[in-house]
Amino acid sequence: MPLLAIETSCDETCAAVMAEDARLLSNVVASQEIHEQYGGVVPELASRMHLQHIAGVVRKALERAEVAPLQLNAIAVTHGPGLIGSLLVGLSFAKGLALDLGVPLLGVNHLEGHLFSNNISPEGPQPPFLSLIVSGGHSMLAHVEDWNRYRILGETQDDAAGEAFDKVARILGLPYPGGPQIEKLAAAGNPHAIAFPVARLKDAPFDFSFSGLKTAVLYHVRKLLSNEAATSGEQQSLTQVKADIAASFQHALITAILETTARAHEKFPVSSVALAGGVACNKTLRQALMELGQTRGFQVFYPPPIYCTDNAAMIARAAMIRLTHMRGTNGSAYQHAPMPGLKLDSNL
Ligand code: KG4
Ligand code: ZN
Repeated sequence: MPLLAIETSCDETCAAVMAEDARLLSNVVASQEIHEQYGGVVPELASRMHLQHIAGVVRKALERAEVAPLQLNAIAVTHGPGLIGSLLVGLSFAKGLALDLGVPLLGVNHLEGHLFSNNISPEGPQPPFLSLIVSGGHSMLAHVEDWNRYRILGETQDDAAGEAFDKVARILGLPYPGGPQIEKLAAAGNPHAIAFPVARLKDAPFDFSFSGLKTAVLYHVRKLLSNEAATSGEQQSLTQVKADIAASFQHALITAILETTARAHEKFPVSSVALAGGVACNKTLRQALMELGQTRGFQVFYPPPIYCTDNAAMIARAAMIRLTHMRGTNGSAYQHAPMPGLKLDSNL
């Protein structure tokens, strides 16, 4: 009997259906382009768009899976972390449907979804493995000791990796979301043109910090602009200047991620490292991590782009893992409330 999963923690309305043997039967994502014009997600607009999309997205997921609502045996829904208004739409919809159908409702941590997004495929990593979650809202390194036992080794102390990509893109006048734009521009640039700082946190060796890097890019651009005013004429082409900044920023950010991963692997010499979250779409990061894996002796896993960014297939998979290896459903459908600041913790 299949499970329906719903995810609405940020700006994507998602639903997926997964069979009891963990085969993915459908995966539907409705993205919200409306935020592009504002250069970032506007929470109020995100909840309104979720309200408009949720019923159609769930219906489409059931139709594509050829599953009738009455055939469902459980519903899983993201209950945190995320934007409270966005979470509330998915959670209320899931609660109403679960109560109507008389099936259990399972609250899933969004980060647990990213953590197991490489396991939507049966060829995914088997514990123990290290998981590197790099997205628009989060950057963390976790040690997955077993399916039901994992712990966070480090997190970002300020901006998330995707957030840094988005903010630097904005500085360079590129549209939101900035990650793919920076990656494209960086392909034509020299990654060693500018030595941007790579944060190394002595007291927190597995933590990240990207805000200093973002500020360094901002100061660099300001300095260039004031020089340009003083010496207009024999300048490099603007496109090349931007490409060099994009490539040098990307290089510094990837270096920070690789150094932190290498330190964690030194302490936890696992044979697999799983990359997840929107920034895991970045091909330069994937390539660099695979090279590190060859040197250090670990295999790198990363999901296809559709499972890197927010989706409900990963929520379905995390729910299945929870049902199989943990404590079953965590409470009755009535008890679930949105938890915007929910932490990743296998004891919850
Ligand atoms: O996982 P996600 O949907 O966000 C959260 O759940 O928080 O990822 C979105 C983030 C954005 O910040 C976007 O700029 C970044 O992932 N991203 C990328 C790339 N594709 C998406 N960053 C770098 N390179 C990419 N190719
Ligand atoms: Zn996410």
